[in-house]
Amino acid sequence: MKLILLGPPGAGKGTQAKRLYDRHKLVQLSTGDMLRAEVASGSELGKEAKRVMEAGQLVSDEIVINIIDKRIDAPDCKSGFVLDGFPRTEKQAIALDEMLTRKGGKIDGVIELAVDEDALVERISGRFACAKCGAGYHDKFQRPKKEGVCDVCGSTEFTRRKDDNAETVKARLKAYHEQTAPILPYYRKKGLLQRVDGMADPDAVTQEIERVLSRIRP
Ligand code: AP5
Ligand code: MG
Repeated sequence: MKLILLGPPGAGKGTQAKRLYDRHKLVQLSTGDMLRAEVASGSELGKEAKRVMEAGQLVSDEIVINIIDKRIDAPDCKSGFVLDGFPRTEKQAIALDEMLTRKGGKIDGVIELAVDEDALVERISGRFACAKCGAGYHDKFQRPKKEGVCDVCGSTEFTRRKDDNAETVKARLKAYHEQTAPILPYYRKKGLLQRVDGMADPDAVTQEIERVLSRIRP
């Protein structure tokens, strides 16, 4: 199965994509994570992406389309994947359809995580992750079971994203409204778009996604 998770910054795309991997072995393809790995590696691409990401703007279509085009050829994607943060523009949506047609596949469903924007700044500014395994946490909504220790790998090192500050979040939301939300009708017309309430607690959101999957399972 090939899915897309759509929604503004902080909607819960990453949280739910990880759960889709745990439950269905759908590989999480997060362009944000891939770009952050490029930034951490210090590559030329990473240097270019860093500036754009820290300003809360979108990296060029060409860069992210190339990254995804290569990544979905990897053997682990054969049994299915969930796109988290891609596509984000109409150009990316069209390029995705073209590349899947070329490779002999198609998108089975697009899940929109609908959220109340007032909640997003709080969600994003409280977010942190394990520096070793990447497990995600939140100061208020999802603290580690043992204070200061990662539930998954036991590490005591945590990180916060550089673009998780109020000012950059505003720019990221603006980019979402201007460039990403306009692709919702593209998927609605194809009969692929399913809306899920992203304001419910994370387990309820997962249950709702499971209900959607049972309807669209190919
Ligand atoms: P990206 O990494 O994709 O960031 P984003 O879209 O801004 O989304 P986030 O990762 O902030 O939020 P999320 O929806 O994953 O929420 P999460 O599950 O973490 O992109 C970063 C940047 O990279 C972009 O700004 C752009 O520059 C660039 N980029 C990436 N892809 C690109 C593309 N295709 N084209 C061009 N540029 C691209 O949840 C957030 C917090 O809330 C967490 O702390 C979590 O624990 C908590 N939480 C989750 N669900 C719930 C819930 N139901 N209730 C309460 N709390 C919850
Ligand atoms: Mg994310």
